[in-house]
Amino acid sequence: MNENIYSNISDLYSHLMRFIDYKKWANYIYKISKEIKDKNIFSLELASGNCALANYLVDKFYFYVVSDLSSNMLVKASAKIKNKVSCNFLALPFKKKFNFVFSCFDSVNYLTNKKEFLKMLDEVANILDENGIFTFDASMENNSLKYQKYLNRKGDYKGIKYEQISRYSLKNRIHKNKFIIDFGNGVIKEETHYQKIYRFEDYFEMISHSKFSVLKCYEAFSFTNANANSERIQFVLKKRN
Ligand SMILES: C[S@@+](CC[C@H](N)C(=O)[O-])C[C@H]1O[C@@H](n2cnc3c(N)ncnc32)[C@H](O)[C@@H]1O
Repeated sequence: MNENIYSNISDLYSHLMRFIDYKKWANYIYKISKEIKDKNIFSLELASGNCALANYLVDKFYFYVVSDLSSNMLVKASAKIKNKVSCNFLALPFKKKFNFVFSCFDSVNYLTNKKEFLKMLDEVANILDENGIFTFDASMENNSLKYQKYLNRKGDYKGIKYEQISRYSLKNRIHKNKFIIDFGNGVIKEETHYQKIYRFEDYFEMISHSKFSVLKCYEAFSFTNANANSERIQFVLKKRN
C-alpha cells in the first residue's frame, strides 16, 4: 500500500474528473440506501476523495462521515462537509456503528491482493450495524480495456502541467496509472497508482470468506444483474445471520 497516493494529484483531481456526473452517481447511491429499513441513516463514506459525491448526499442522511487515506484530498471538500476523518479503510478507527457504509469509483480496486480485500471487509463488518448495508463499485476488465486509451493524456490546469500514463496488464490484471505533475519552478512530482482488476467470480469467492453475503450485484447505475462482462459492478452486501 502506497501511503502517498493522492497526495500530489489532489490539486488536479476535480479537473481530471470534470466529466464525471457525481449528481447521477449520488442519486444511485441514495436509491440503494433505501434497502435500509431504519428511519435514520448513519452513513460512512470510505475513500471519499475530495467529497464530490458527499456534496449531493450529505443533506439526505441523518448523519454523514466522510473518510479517506489522503488528507490532501479531504481538505479539498466544500465547507458543507463537516465530519471528515483521514484513515485507511484497512484500519477503521471508529467506535460508533453505522447502518450505511459505502465506497465509490474504483476505490476498492486499490486493494491489490485478496488478503487486503478481506481485511477491508472485516474492518467494515466491525463498524456496521447488524441490519446495515455495505455497498461499493468495482471496476472490471472491460472498463480498463475500454478507457485505457482516454487515460493517456496531458494537460494544464491552473498553471499545473500534468501527464497521465495508463497501462492495463492482462497478465497480472493490474491497472497502473502514473502521473507526472509539474507544479512549476522546477517542482515535479510523480505518483503511481496500482489497481487490481479482480475477476467477477473473485468477488464472490472473497465475500464468501467474510462476514458478508451478497444481497445484490448490479450493473453500476442500474438495478439489473451484473455479469462477468460488466464494465463496472455495484455490490450490495449485508451481514450474514
Ligand atoms: C478514484 S479515487 C475516488 C474518490 C471518490 N470516491 C470519488 O468518487 O471521486 C480513490 C480514492 O481512494 C482513496 N484510497 C485509496 N486507498 C485507500 C485506503 N487504503 N484507505 C482509504 N482510502 C483509500 C484515495 O485516497 C482516493 O481518494
